[in-house]
Amino acid sequence: MKNEVHCLISAGPTREWLDPVRFISNPSSGKMGYALANAAKARGLKVTLVSGPVTLPCPTGVDRILVNTAFEMQEVMGQHFPASSLTIMTAAVCDQRPKVFHEQKIKKDKVSEIIELVPNPDILLSLGKHKRIDQILVGFAAETENHIAHAKIKLQQKNLDWIAVNDVSGNQAFESDDNQLTLISNHGQSIIFEKEDKISLAKKILDLVYP
Ligand code: CTP
Repeated sequence: MKNEVHCLISAGPTREWLDPVRFISNPSSGKMGYALANAAKARGLKVTLVSGPVTLPCPTGVDRILVNTAFEMQEVMGQHFPASSLTIMTAAVCDQRPKVFHEQKIKKDKVSEIIELVPNPDILLSLGKHKRIDQILVGFAAETENHIAHAKIKLQQKNLDWIAVNDVSGNQAFESDDNQLTLISNHGQSIIFEKEDKISLAKKILDLVYP
């Protein structure tokens, strides 16, 4: 449809492979991103969900693109970003990947005790650099300490309109159905949400970031 408003959401972890049977990743369940995709669809937006490996079903009516590595996620996000009015990065992108990918399974007696890592691209940072005035960009900060201060730095550095701050101490936010968030805007607004289920939270976040 011609006048559809596009919404682009990333969710879940990325996997960074050492060889065909081993990878580095994190426990992100994708629940927050999938809840946002459902909520955005319910509001009549045309939703593209770029998802790392999770066990959740594709939300009805949402266009889901499955990716694996940070590089794959970056490519797909970059393709869809220009057409997106509202972009939300909830994905737990691995910041590093093994320097060398071994085409063949490394035999156990040959696995090095030290795996050399190199930095992955910061997807949100690059989206922020290309953001137009008519686009809204939202990030999710995963923090274990100094949550608000760290999130405010990310809000500025990545040129975001909003950032939602997650406490990921002990993986509680990653795997739980509930979450406790603070949403901060680039205009200095700060909204603290009580702990509640991610589906209700997703609706409240959308009400604020895309009224
Ligand atoms: N992000 C991204 N690409 C990365 C790392 C993070 O796009 N390589 C995005 C996440 O999807 C999230 C935001 O940046 O929306 C903040 O992610 P977070 O993990 O909290 O912060 P980092 O930028 O990775 O910084 P640090 O690890 O130092 O906290």
